[in-house]
Amino acid sequence: MADIIDGKAFAAKIRAEVKEDSDKLISQKQVDPCLAVVLVGENPASKVYVGQKSKMAKECNIKTKDYKLDESTDQKTLLKLIEDLNNDSTVHGILVQLPLPKQIDERKVIDTIVVEKDVDGFHAINAGRLSIGGDMLKRAFIPCTPLGSLLLLKDQVGDLRGKNAVVVGRSNIVGKPMSQLLIEESCTVTIVHSKTKDIESVCAQADVVVVAVGRPEMVDAKWLKEGAVVIDVGINRIPVTKEDGSEGSKIVGDVDFASASEKASKITPVPGGVGPMTIACLLRNTVTSAYRHAGLNDPRSH
Ligand code: GUN
Repeated sequence: MADIIDGKAFAAKIRAEVKEDSDKLISQKQVDPCLAVVLVGENPASKVYVGQKSKMAKECNIKTKDYKLDESTDQKTLLKLIEDLNNDSTVHGILVQLPLPKQIDERKVIDTIVVEKDVDGFHAINAGRLSIGGDMLKRAFIPCTPLGSLLLLKDQVGDLRGKNAVVVGRSNIVGKPMSQLLIEESCTVTIVHSKTKDIESVCAQADVVVVAVGRPEMVDAKWLKEGAVVIDVGINRIPVTKEDGSEGSKIVGDVDFASASEKASKITPVPGGVGPMTIACLLRNTVTSAYRHAGLNDPRSH
């Protein structure tokens, strides 16, 4: 049976460090770290995520400015808000929750955020810095879910050099940046996706498997080598029939936990694995940004 990786506990430890760093900046430089959180529309999952982000920020002594815009908001209005936040020297991080309504060009919005406040790490320049790696990484913001996944992996495995890592999924938010972080750790990295031939046997070569596809319980024991370390990024709500016959729902990952944990050596649960790490890393990036804006070195390196 696999060890269960406690992302909730590790995220709490990171948030405690973030709060310490934030408190230091407030007392020594009289700068209050501040995150602007922008939500457009009514996506129920997005509403939950931004609520959690704002709440956890406050617990780390990070101020927040919350903006809730109507589903029908046009692109010009959103870009104007971002320009205002770019020019507001009290704001250190700007987070625009994705996905955005279809009348809005996501790439245009992300690239309008000034690079130095792009705490999600989605701006083309931050993506480029991560892709180049090395010293360029020191100036970048790294996307929060891959960063959180990497911190968990390093905490669990230690040195990742020479490990075979397979990343399942090629999104800009998780799969691509995750693969670049693993390359930076000197892993041998393979990205697989919906068109990959014989995907299960490719995954079965991996010492480390990171799954981010948004398909409930897709990866099971057949996909895994004995002793693999499994990081499940998926958060999927699926319908269930309860014991009393009534209809309900539950949250599952992209990995079939019961099956995979028979073969893996370590595995993240859903919920309580990567999810809390994403928010902790967003807060960490925000405080890092506030330090950089104050002309100071980053308080922590990854
Ligand atoms: N939607 C899903 N994940 C993320 C994330 O990490 N940041 C933002 N802004 N939106 C998301």
